[in-house]
Amino acid sequence: MNSESILKAVKLDLKKYTMNPATRKREVRLSELKEYFSNPEAADRILSSGRDPVVYEYYEYSVEEAVGHMTLGLTIIYPGKVGKEYFMTRGHFHQKPAAEFYLGIRGRGILLIQSEDGRTDYVELRPGIIGYVPPGWGHRTINTGRGKFIFFFAYPSDAGHDYGIVKEKGFAKIVVEEKGKPIIVDNPKYAGST
Ligand SMILES: [Fe+2]
Repeated sequence: MNSESILKAVKLDLKKYTMNPATRKREVRLSELKEYFSNPEAADRILSSGRDPVVYEYYEYSVEEAVGHMTLGLTIIYPGKVGKEYFMTRGHFHQKPAAEFYLGIRGRGILLIQSEDGRTDYVELRPGIIGYVPPGWGHRTINTGRGKFIFFFAYPSDAGHDYGIVKEKGFAKIVVEEKGKPIIVDNPKYAGST
């Protein structure tokens, strides 16, 4: 194999749900996400029992975080809830108006998107379903199933991440379990569009 080669085979292991090589691998636990849930007291109850479960983990492969490149990745969201609200990613906007797509691989979930002025939309992801995030829209994914929710994603490598808007305002909608089924409802803690 030519070590100077610019072509790399990136392997998605569809049994173990790993990506290799990866330039980034991260686990995000409940203690880090507590304030993002609509009911942080419910998170505290889990944490005070001595558990700090991994809510989601992801792999990324990026050749270079520069204009024209794409970053590829795999996210695994574990099943679980904080109060009635399903386990989810933190959610973010891109610093540049860059699109992104998600391809469902296993399990079921929701891709929730939101404009900066609070308009929302969503798509239900299943294996084989692709969700598209238009440029400028914030995005979060939620595991509404009983098993792991796993999807592949790709976005422009120079997009950048802005987590501050979500941290300050939250998402306008949240996904909760009601009578055993996921429903999307207004977030009582959403801090509005200004
Ligand atoms: Fe993104």
